[in-house]
Amino acid sequence: MSQQYETQKYFGDEAERWDAQAKKLQYNTITDRNNSVLDSFRRHGNVKNFLDVGCGTGQLTIQISGLGVEASGIDFAQEMIDVCRKNAITANSTAKFNCASIFDVSLLDSSFDLISAQGFIEYISELELTKFLGTLSRILKKDGQAVIGSRNRLFNIASMNEYTLLEVEIGAIANLLAEAIAVQMSPSQQSLFKTLSQFSFDLNRPAAHPHTGIDVATRYQYTPSELIAKFREVGFVPSQIYPINFHPMPQSLLTNEKLLQTKDQLSSVVASEYPNTHQFVPYSSSFVMAFTKQ
Ligand SMILES: C[S@@+](CC[C@H](N)C(=O)[O-])C[C@H]1O[C@@H](n2cnc3c(N)ncnc32)[C@H](O)[C@@H]1O
Repeated sequence: MSQQYETQKYFGDEAERWDAQAKKLQYNTITDRNNSVLDSFRRHGNVKNFLDVGCGTGQLTIQISGLGVEASGIDFAQEMIDVCRKNAITANSTAKFNCASIFDVSLLDSSFDLISAQGFIEYISELELTKFLGTLSRILKKDGQAVIGSRNRLFNIASMNEYTLLEVEIGAIANLLAEAIAVQMSPSQQSLFKTLSQFSFDLNRPAAHPHTGIDVATRYQYTPSELIAKFREVGFVPSQIYPINFHPMPQSLLTNEKLLQTKDQLSSVVASEYPNTHQFVPYSSSFVMAFTKQ
């Protein structure tokens, strides 16, 4: 089964559960990622057209349309789009939703100021990522922002589990550690981006990933420097990085309810008090990066 077919089937079956997760009041990564997009929205200062790629159940698109912006979401799972439309009616929102693959739609050149893709690039191959970056570069206006969520490959150091073992096996661990140290020690985001832009490791990739609890064979992970290099090829520079899901607990013990609650509290503190504090990135299972089109 192809990766994208598996993804479409998985999210088609998961729409109701995803909607409940997105509306959860306790710490959740969906809200955390969406808040980083809202921060980029405010930093841009003049967003008129917004697109959410892989919009899921539509919370972000609806929130941004409420800020007086033409906002649309695209998702190839029909069940997700059905929930989006229900949520838009409940919120009395003008947000538009399109059921299609981002690889199959025709979108006008230079038509968006801000494009978000959260929980999306982990489900596409590296070849599809290159194609996606080409599309982003074409449809964003100059100085527009692409705000992209990624599973964090640097977290494979801190997780100390089968992912860490894989990185050791394929000989990538020392380079990952060097990058994590650079992230942790950079005094500012601008100096961090300068340092990471000079990294030229070609990190090996494992042939397969351990199962993540989501029934899609591979959920790709990147380090910040890997994404910076890929975006640079299509004319983007990094402008912000946000740690997502600060995760300082041994994962194997999180079946304990009290520990899990403490972990959620800590993740919430980082999300609310340190939303764009890069020093937390090596300890976070995901990150969001904003890139500016030159
Ligand atoms: C992990 S969910 C994230 C949903 C939402 N962005 C959020 O953060 O709550 C990923 C979504 O991407 C959609 N998706 C994956 N590949 C896609 C593609 N090629 N075109 C459109 N949607 C896609 C899936 O159907 C799924 O709803």
